[in-house]
Amino acid sequence: MSSHRSFPAHLVSVRDLDHDQVRDLFSGAAAFRDMPRAEAVTLLRGHVVAMMFYQPSTRTRLGFEAAALRLGASVMGFADPSTTRSVDYIGETLEDTINVVAELSDAIVMRHFLAGAASRAAAVSSRPVLNGGDGSNEHPTQALTDSWVMASRLGDLEGAVIGLVGDPGTRVLRSLTLLLAMLKVKRMLFLVPPSAPLMSAYASSSFVHTTLPGDLRAALHAHGIEYDFRSDVSDLLAEADAIELMPIDIPALEAVPASLRKQHSVTPEQFRVTAAKIHATGSKALVLHPGPRKDELHPEVDSLPNGLYFDQVRESLHIRMAVLAQLCGVNPRRTDRPGAVDVREARA
Ligand code: CP
Repeated sequence: MSSHRSFPAHLVSVRDLDHDQVRDLFSGAAAFRDMPRAEAVTLLRGHVVAMMFYQPSTRTRLGFEAAALRLGASVMGFADPSTTRSVDYIGETLEDTINVVAELSDAIVMRHFLAGAASRAAAVSSRPVLNGGDGSNEHPTQALTDSWVMASRLGDLEGAVIGLVGDPGTRVLRSLTLLLAMLKVKRMLFLVPPSAPLMSAYASSSFVHTTLPGDLRAALHAHGIEYDFRSDVSDLLAEADAIELMPIDIPALEAVPASLRKQHSVTPEQFRVTAAKIHATGSKALVLHPGPRKDELHPEVDSLPNGLYFDQVRESLHIRMAVLAQLCGVNPRRTDRPGAVDVREARA
């Protein structure tokens, strides 16, 4: 079903979308997945998509670049803000930088270390702003990807139990919680790490941490979503239809030289997904991870049917193509004819 509301000019938050618009983006992603490359590459020919990455990224930046190129757009931008005038003796403001880039491009993909930066950019930009992650606030295209991956395997998410492992105050889990609430999943289970000072004592503790930011609690209540907390990832593997896990941040890790970090197993066992735990629980749960992973997700899970995190990357391409096309005014829809796509001007 198509939304009666017009599509937003920017994608800063999953809250910018309504349920029907999310479904339209899922349909658009499916259309791009099935569309011949030679057809897709005509859709944004002549457009320029700008990438403004103030923080490191592998998946999001390259994913948006690949999406733009697959649609026939050209790509420009920066992956390192130290090459811009925002960090020299002038310290150009974000607003001025956006106004410059908007004059030179048709859409702007931005990642920034400040929560709220994407909103500030959208407030002044004459071109669509796509939030590729702003501080601890949101990462909407990651959440769209992850919920689409879940929906395309589980069917109706309204019957699904979804487990989330990690700090719910971080951008991926914030956006995903808000989006899954909007999509009316049956139940959500959270495995929440303690705050950093308690982390070292956590390994021997079975205390259940029940911290959710107030706005996430409010969203879950507003959509009537049941939720609960667990103390061990094995509980989620046993109970959930899909789980998404994240690295568990430990600030003390900063003391370890970067070159040695991969050799340190620092994630408490309760948060680690391994093949042995999947076998022991007989879990059929889909296992998702936005990446990058540390030691919370063992590589031996990669070859199990549960492990979907590289599929997530592939499918993120189609979601990002759908978002870019929609915000640039092209709206692909699947038709009843297999393989055929009805492309119409979204803002005609
Ligand atoms: N998931 C995600 O945002 O990955 P990157 O930091 O590599 O973009």
